[in-house]
Amino acid sequence: MQRLADKVAIVTGAAQGIGAHFARGLAAEGAKVVIADVLDGTETADSIVRAKGTARFIRTDVSKASDVQALVAQTVAEFGTIDILVNNAAIFATLGNKKFHEISSEEFDKVMAVNVRGPFECAKAVAPLMIEKGAGKIVNIASGTVFKGVPNLLHYVSSKGAVVAMTRCLAREFGPHNVNVNAIAPGLTMSDGVLGQSDWTDDYIESNKNSRALKRRQVPGDLVGSMVFLCSSDSDFMTGQTIVVDGGAVMH
Ligand SMILES: NC(=O)c1ccc[n+]([C@@H]2O[C@H](COP(=O)([O-])OP(=O)(O)OC[C@H]3O[C@@H](n4cnc5c(N)ncnc54)[C@H](O)[C@@H]3O)[C@@H](O)[C@H]2O)c1
Repeated sequence: MQRLADKVAIVTGAAQGIGAHFARGLAAEGAKVVIADVLDGTETADSIVRAKGTARFIRTDVSKASDVQALVAQTVAEFGTIDILVNNAAIFATLGNKKFHEISSEEFDKVMAVNVRGPFECAKAVAPLMIEKGAGKIVNIASGTVFKGVPNLLHYVSSKGAVVAMTRCLAREFGPHNVNVNAIAPGLTMSDGVLGQSDWTDDYIESNKNSRALKRRQVPGDLVGSMVFLCSSDSDFMTGQTIVVDGGAVMH
């Protein structure tokens, strides 16, 4: 039996990378999926429809409150409700490695606007609906870098630390309304974004692999099982948690 039959899910940042795998994974479990991205997500949506699922792309910049409100309104108009919000969109792979004192104030603010305020805007926009229903699942994507204090990406790592903190605050505030809020913290994953950047050299990826208990490279599919679990009734009594899925590099 499909674990998410008839649920309606928004997955941000699902035009490519890990988000696209989440969208396809949720759809395979029966969810109707809205792909929200600044990039064109038509191909992800089409791949779900080709697999006999239901999906729709809505162009959205998660750092713009008006875009996010339109996303929620269009989703409800088309599918009737929202049961699941996956806050996956982030600026990451394009940042490159920089010492913290080389990061401009503008870039710092941009990363915070997308990676921290984006999930906040999305959670805020679905809140009235989920509170009224007395049900909902929100899954935020953090990062294993928070627990390692990875250097040369200070704005990114700080933003994901904020996502862990936000997950806990949202869990407390949404809890009385029976809405679960959890996070997944992936390790370095061979997503489209990472594969498209030269900053992650083979040597770096190999040494990252060797820091794991399970000695192999992480791929987006490694994260889908935990995502489905957190969106399904199997996790109904879990909230405020951050699950590290990284092959055992950090043990949190
Ligand atoms: N790949 C990794 O090693 C890794 C590790 C830990 C955490 N993560 C996290 O996983 C998530 C997905 O990462 P990925 O590697 O697949 O990245 P990616 O760059 O391949 O995909 C990110 C997606 O987010 C979208 N996006 C960016 N800004 C947006 C905005 N303002 N509004 C809407 N969409 C926007 C992009 O267009 C893209 O489709 C991110 O939250 C990232 O921080 C990735």
